[in-house]
Amino acid sequence: MARIDSLLRAMTLEEKLGQLNLVTANQTVTGPIVAGEMPQDIRAGRVGGVFNLWGRETATGAQRLAVEETRLGVPLLFGLDVLHGHRTIFPIPLAEAGAFDESLWEHTARVAAFEAANEGVCLTFAPMLDVARDPRWGRIAEGPGEDPFLAEKFARAKVKGFQGESLSHRNAIAATAKHFCAGGAATAGRDYASVDVSERALREVYLPPFRAAVEAGVAAIMSAFNSVNGHPMAAHGVLLNGFLRRELGFEGVVMSDYGAIAELVEHGVAADLVEAAALALKAGVDMDMVSGVYLNRLPEALARGLVEMGDIDAAVARVLRLKERLGLFDDPYRFAMLEEDANETHRELAREAARRAITLLSNDGVLPLAADIRRLAVIGPLADAPAEMLGPWCAAGASANCVTVLEGLKSALPHCDIAHHPGVSIAGDDESGIEAACALAAGADAILLCLGESAGMSGEAASRAMLGLPGKQRALAEKVLALGAPAIALLTSGRPLTVPWLFEKAQAVLATWFLGDMAGNAIADVLTGRFNPSARLPVAWPREVGQIPIFYAERSTGRPPEANNPFTSKYLDCPVEPQFPFGHGLSYARVTLANLRVNKIEFSPDEHIETTIEARNESDKTTQETIFLFIHDVTASVARPLMELKACARVALAPYESKTVAFTLGAESFSFLGEDMEPLIEPGAFDILVGLSAERKNLLSARVRLLSISQPGGRA
Ligand code: IFM
Repeated sequence: MARIDSLLRAMTLEEKLGQLNLVTANQTVTGPIVAGEMPQDIRAGRVGGVFNLWGRETATGAQRLAVEETRLGVPLLFGLDVLHGHRTIFPIPLAEAGAFDESLWEHTARVAAFEAANEGVCLTFAPMLDVARDPRWGRIAEGPGEDPFLAEKFARAKVKGFQGESLSHRNAIAATAKHFCAGGAATAGRDYASVDVSERALREVYLPPFRAAVEAGVAAIMSAFNSVNGHPMAAHGVLLNGFLRRELGFEGVVMSDYGAIAELVEHGVAADLVEAAALALKAGVDMDMVSGVYLNRLPEALARGLVEMGDIDAAVARVLRLKERLGLFDDPYRFAMLEEDANETHRELAREAARRAITLLSNDGVLPLAADIRRLAVIGPLADAPAEMLGPWCAAGASANCVTVLEGLKSALPHCDIAHHPGVSIAGDDESGIEAACALAAGADAILLCLGESAGMSGEAASRAMLGLPGKQRALAEKVLALGAPAIALLTSGRPLTVPWLFEKAQAVLATWFLGDMAGNAIADVLTGRFNPSARLPVAWPREVGQIPIFYAERSTGRPPEANNPFTSKYLDCPVEPQFPFGHGLSYARVTLANLRVNKIEFSPDEHIETTIEARNESDKTTQETIFLFIHDVTASVARPLMELKACARVALAPYESKTVAFTLGAESFSFLGEDMEPLIEPGAFDILVGLSAERKNLLSARVRLLSISQPGGRA
């Protein structure tokens, strides 16, 4: 603190505002650059951090300007969107979430942090923690999916992975939980669109992952572009100062998203940029990403009395404190001492993460491929498209490091004649290649259809209103499927795609998302059966866009869907159920669950309840299963979701092995937010539902009763 106090005393207003100014080093991102000439600005103390700048030499050069050529020598922060790897690219977060494995999530973030730190990065704009139930929103790809419980786990693992034991370690980077908050609920799935959600939905669904990140010690939070209930997040004092700082006690840095402070004018809540800067600062945003309005407009805001020097000092102190926690004052070239770099172990981890992200959606028995397969036709525009495998936000990743599906298969099946034709491009209109693709596929023992989206169709500003296959891919697929050979479809995408016809016609379909560098090897591992697929969907897979938003934890209705009753909650033209529910995913084994037991039928709020279930592998394949435990509060003072995920466990089963899996829940798992938004434990009946996905009809259930404190068996 002494260093920060003395710096604050020594700083001019411009130098203070410089610390709040986060500028970009290139133009690859999403908006105009308002910052002036960077080197001169750094020398003048007008820059607090730079992003999109990495590489030892470049970072050293820029840091030298700050440390050796400014009046006070305050080091710079170097930021980057390290969403799913730095040099070594892992699967996109949505895909990785499907592994349901905190240690894997932490490990990939740790490796990404090593590689990023090695090139000067000390701050990442990750993890992205937006719960998303609308796959039209392109950013669903960047987060952990539809469920707050899963998102909380993901948040903790990623923060731990990026930040390591201590931020001051040279291979740790500061994590930024984003986008605070509720961007996943954007109107009609349109990126940047406004969000209108109840306080209950905010607190039950969208805020919990941020709470988890704060509890895990996240260094920074990024406010979202969107407004929430009429207040743009860059000026949302109730959620930033109120929830984040006062209620959660968050003491780290809040930064805006790209140009979002200046956009307060466009949002219609600030008359000019001076007001915009004042609103954001007053609401609790410390760093201004790229708008330049803190630097250029806060002096006038001070003069107009819209902000006080105390507001500026508090924000500057938080930025300096982050630099201090990172050890930058004592070790500004910390990265220059590191030896870690992208290496083979990282690529092995990328392969492991990628195969654990592949979800086998359907399979009539065609997979795994027969060991003696002779002729394989690999058709489609995503079979040999290295850059597309990386997905959105691939930091310093390079398509040259990427193994395509075709390459992966060729190396896994050296004896097999593998022929390839793209047939069509990803999104173009030209169908002229379809005939040649069909000619090449005719007579093959099996056909692999490599379909899906380009990397640019997911991520920021990549919402889609139609979630089918783009361009002429459906025409290609239908012609190829009509050949009658066993066909396996791989869907490369950043979101579920609505292709009900494909699930009907193809013998197997796999969600292969954007898997990163080792996509091709991982896909070959799964197709050949060298790896038994184990991923589960972290998000419901809709049949039709009209079902969106779609998620398992819907709240009850007075008229649940009933087959022969028209006046119930359903569609005239489409089932209510998704194509595949949250948690769905097949393996090559056959596992059944039996003997659900609870250790007590009644329990009091100070007791735990143990649920056990037997998982039986009824096949000759070793397998990894994920078992989900949901609860349903039967009667409560507030209507509760139909099911809420409260625990999940991964279990490894040898051929024909059975294991008993136990889950322990305390009363807090049965609590909910009462009328006053305070946690409440209400006595009464609860169903405990356990199964291999959120498909209600397949869940085993037991009813238990939570006693009130004064009931027999409850506390006196
Ligand atoms: O971190 C990102 C954010 O998620 C979207 N807008 C740009 C930022 C910086 O690249």
